[in-house]
Amino acid sequence: MATTAVAHDFPVLEREGLVYLDSAATAQKPRQVIDAMDDFLSHHNASVHRGVYPLMVEATERYEGARDRAARFVGSTAGETILTGNATQAINLVAQAWGRANLQQGDRVVITEMEHHSVIVPWHMICRERGAHLDVVGVDDEGQLLLEELDAHLAKGPKLVAITHVSNVLGTINPIEEIARRVHAAGALLLVDGSQAVPQIPVDVAALDADFYAWTGHKAYGPTGIGVLHGKREILEAMPPWIGGGHMINRVSFEEITFAGVPARFEAGTSPIVEGVGLGAAVDFLSGIGIDAVRAHERSVTAYAMERLQELPGLTIHGPQDPGARGALVSFHLDHAHPHDVAEILGRQGVCVRAGHHCAQPLMKRLGIGASTRASFAVHTTPDDVDRLVDALVEVHRIFGD
Ligand SMILES: Cc1ncc(COP(=O)(O)O)c(C=O)c1O
Repeated sequence: MATTAVAHDFPVLEREGLVYLDSAATAQKPRQVIDAMDDFLSHHNASVHRGVYPLMVEATERYEGARDRAARFVGSTAGETILTGNATQAINLVAQAWGRANLQQGDRVVITEMEHHSVIVPWHMICRERGAHLDVVGVDDEGQLLLEELDAHLAKGPKLVAITHVSNVLGTINPIEEIARRVHAAGALLLVDGSQAVPQIPVDVAALDADFYAWTGHKAYGPTGIGVLHGKREILEAMPPWIGGGHMINRVSFEEITFAGVPARFEAGTSPIVEGVGLGAAVDFLSGIGIDAVRAHERSVTAYAMERLQELPGLTIHGPQDPGARGALVSFHLDHAHPHDVAEILGRQGVCVRAGHHCAQPLMKRLGIGASTRASFAVHTTPDDVDRLVDALVEVHRIFGD
């Protein structure tokens, strides 16, 4: 892939001296997404679903068309695709709607040590509420899931397992197909958090056999304010609604309310219309490059970054050492400088990286650190960007090193 050509698609990258290495937090937006949202707001804006006048029909077609393309991009269907505000809301939807209807006192839910807070907190909350147990699968020193621990937890008969596809700290790509086989053999459901996966590796929700698959638009080159939950139709149809309001009903009287079918049942209120249109443009952008090409490019940038970072004294890379086993990010620890100082000094040189616990405090504890520095890569990242990162880290070493 010609990355310099792709970089021209991102207006923000025209800023002098900017090296954006924080796509795992939020991706920059290509012109195609910005233009699609601008065009919608300028020429097609209306509410959706409720009306018959041509402008509204047009707006509805654009919004529903985006749902359809987002679904097909990951091997799902529009009827099994719920649009939410972000991945956090998608996961909370399952925890609240499915969890409240299905979890009883003494039931078990399994998560892993490498989860983002957006998985840990909703399942912790609903387990507390229902009197269910929350079991945790550990990770080994290379940041890989301990599958024998998963098996041990599965032997206790959990109702659901929630797991990230790609870790936002370690970069680990989890073997979801294999995990799905084990989870289903144990009679449980599988929820996958695909927030870091969808922007960078090929995902086929049907082939993975995930019962629920959540992701978030803004990390996949779309806007903020839009997230996605795919679910198997028969499971979604058996779930009660989570939030009540307009659009999610069939009939309302003061005596009785009947609810709409899926996906409307889970989409109360006015839809995130322009955000949905932006999401559709984002998956078109990714499809235009080809997700295999995206992965190949980011894998080679990650390999180069790991090689160059290892030249630096006192630097430890967290997670799998094989670039092929990880996504496009590198979290690291520097012996002589705190991550916040590192990120600030890098920032002064135009290099944007994330420092902190990355919303994964239990994983930080497992790694024996309070925080890490994370550089994450995207379709527009070049080897020159990696060189700028390394040069900036040399400057950190000059300031803090012995
Ligand atoms: C692995 C993972 N899951 C979930 C999320 C939550 O995404 P959002 O804040 O868009 O809901 C993130 C965002 O950082 C993430 O990295």
